Amino acid sequence: MQFLTLNSHSPQQTQLLGSYLGKLARKADVFLLTGELGTGKTCLVQGIAHGLNVEEYAFSPSFVILRQYHGRLPLYHIDFYRLDSIDEIADLGLEDYFHGDGVCVVEWAEKGLQIVPHDNLLISMHYVPISQTERSIRLKPHGDRYDELIKQLKKESEYWPKMRSGKRGAI
Ligand SMILES: Nc1ncnc2c1ncn2[C@@H]1O[C@H](COP(=O)(O)OP(=O)(O)O)[C@@H](O)[C@H]1O
Ligand SMILES: [Mg+2]
Repeated sequence: MQFLTLNSHSPQQTQLLGSYLGKLARKADVFLLTGELGTGKTCLVQGIAHGLNVEEYAFSPSFVILRQYHGRLPLYHIDFYRLDSIDEIADLGLEDYFHGDGVCVVEWAEKGLQIVPHDNLLISMHYVPISQTERSIRLKPHGDRYDELIKQLKKESEYWPKMRSGKRGAI
């Protein structure tokens, strides 16, 4: 399984990565975002929305748990931040969204890993010590669809060499 680690040096670069993901996204894709508050999860979702030709502005749906945007495909922006237990998350009945006609992007996915689809792209976002504006973003595919997506993304990322950290490899 190939994974990809990128370093973003600005919110704009994180959005650019998101927009590539949005362009490559297909029906029923599931992107799981993990990482501390402020690492740029919502920023990445804004890029994904842009890449899906969503015209509205994507913001953090923390208070509503799920927000839908209309683009080339529907975008379901889900946020587990306010949820406390796995039962609460399971009760939401998100299966129809995960296996539906759009793209699901889940913030704070670490809170609900037991109930999300096994096939997914796990995107973990990390602060880089000392720097205010650098983030390390690791994309780990689970399943054939996402192996393919990572291959495509690697091709695209040849054009944004500044983001390539060189820390690529097989697990
Ligand atoms: N490289 C970067 N990528 C993303 N956000 C960054 C970056 N550098 C600084 N930031 C700032 O960090 C904050 C990220 O906020 P947000 O996307 O809401 O994070 P999260 O959803 O993970 O809590 C924003 O204020 C953004 O301007
Ligand atoms: Mg957020």
